[in-house]
Amino acid sequence: MDFTLTEDQQAVKEAARDFAQNELLPGVIDRDRDMIYPTDQVKMMGEMGFLGMMVDPKYGGGGMDTVSYVLAMEEISKVDASCSVIMSVNNSLVCWGLEKFGSEAQKQKYLVPLAKGEIIGAFCLSEPEAGSDATSQRTTAEDKGDHYLVNGTKNWITNGNKASVQLVMAHSNRELKHKGINCLIIEKGFEGVSIGAKEDKLGIRASDTHSIMYNDVKVSKENRIGDEGFGFTFAMTTLNGGRIGIAAQALGIAAGAYELALKYAQERTTFGKPIIKHQAIGFKLADMATEIEAARLLVYRAARMKDLGMDFSTAAAMAKLYASETAMRATIEAVQIHGGYGYVKEYHVERLMRDAKITQIYEGTSEIQRLVISRALLKGELYQPMVASTNNA
Ligand code: CAA
Repeated sequence: MDFTLTEDQQAVKEAARDFAQNELLPGVIDRDRDMIYPTDQVKMMGEMGFLGMMVDPKYGGGGMDTVSYVLAMEEISKVDASCSVIMSVNNSLVCWGLEKFGSEAQKQKYLVPLAKGEIIGAFCLSEPEAGSDATSQRTTAEDKGDHYLVNGTKNWITNGNKASVQLVMAHSNRELKHKGINCLIIEKGFEGVSIGAKEDKLGIRASDTHSIMYNDVKVSKENRIGDEGFGFTFAMTTLNGGRIGIAAQALGIAAGAYELALKYAQERTTFGKPIIKHQAIGFKLADMATEIEAARLLVYRAARMKDLGMDFSTAAAMAKLYASETAMRATIEAVQIHGGYGYVKEYHVERLMRDAKITQIYEGTSEIQRLVISRALLKGELYQPMVASTNNA
């Protein structure tokens, strides 16, 4: 099995690392503290092609593979997880879903500016009473012939106030349960759309999280993605890809905290030697390095399976589950290694620890990932090693 990156993938990784160090690191503490949306940085990400990385160049994207995307996500997340969630939602949940399932007209109108980063998108599935239980959507899209009338509220929406385009899941026929759900493209400027207050969050504080209210919003049927009732399958399939993005974010947060802790442990001296030479600290770093490397393999493998056109839903769930749990453990240990310095903002690791927590929650909690994995096992869909499946392809 070949674990090396191609020259192109290596170049993407380096470009993302340079961008993160030069453009994101300055100001990251202030943006986090004061909940300042990274307007200039998001604009730069668009210009550098980080907001539509996997989209076909004919629709304004970078035409890159998923592995390149996770490499960029990892590097950017090492420094600024607020920027990387903006990037992840736009790439995985909005652009990828639109490119895979949207009509040609929808792609021309919405995907092109989204992929170029000229506008930002949002994915609107969660509701006040429908988080993990995503089939119990209460937002309605009443069929009015040539259009739908949308009413309801969406919660925890990343890019909520900044997104010009929202992909909104709504029920058109409750009797059909999840098969009655549609995904509609709604513009922020449509009459009846209003944005709730910005959430004051534990982590990823510079990202823009809001509820969005829909009050008799008229949406043309041309804005429905796929056939009538396709919305839930759209949401689940898109989330499979989204979970790879968040797994890469978690990996980056863990690796960022580890790099800072390793550097600190080499520089900080106690009892006459650098603290890395104390077994208590050296072993912590050894565990962190090992777990991060294991998470990296799972994340890259899920991305590679997606690139090979294989069923990657279980692999994505495993990658997100393990990488997010690793991010939490690694960031807590990074704070511990820094001692008192870890508890103050200047040393970055406390922010990474706060940022890590959300990766265990959004785009499917760790419990939902375990549910997805255990259901696959129950159905007898034993996890196929990539190499065997590739040979069969
Ligand atoms: N991929 C493709 N299809 C899937 C799927 C997957 N991973 N999971 C379920 N489905 C399909 C099923 O095949 C089924 O379709 P059919 O009836 O046609 O066969 C349909 O969806 C319903 O599935 P279930 O019967 O399994 O439904 P359920 O209600 O028992 O469980 C669930 C569904 C897996 C728990 C689902 O509700 C889920 O994933 N919940 C988590 C929701 C989530 O991840 N939310 C994230 C919000 S977005 C976000 O966080 C973005 C952000 O801003 C950062």
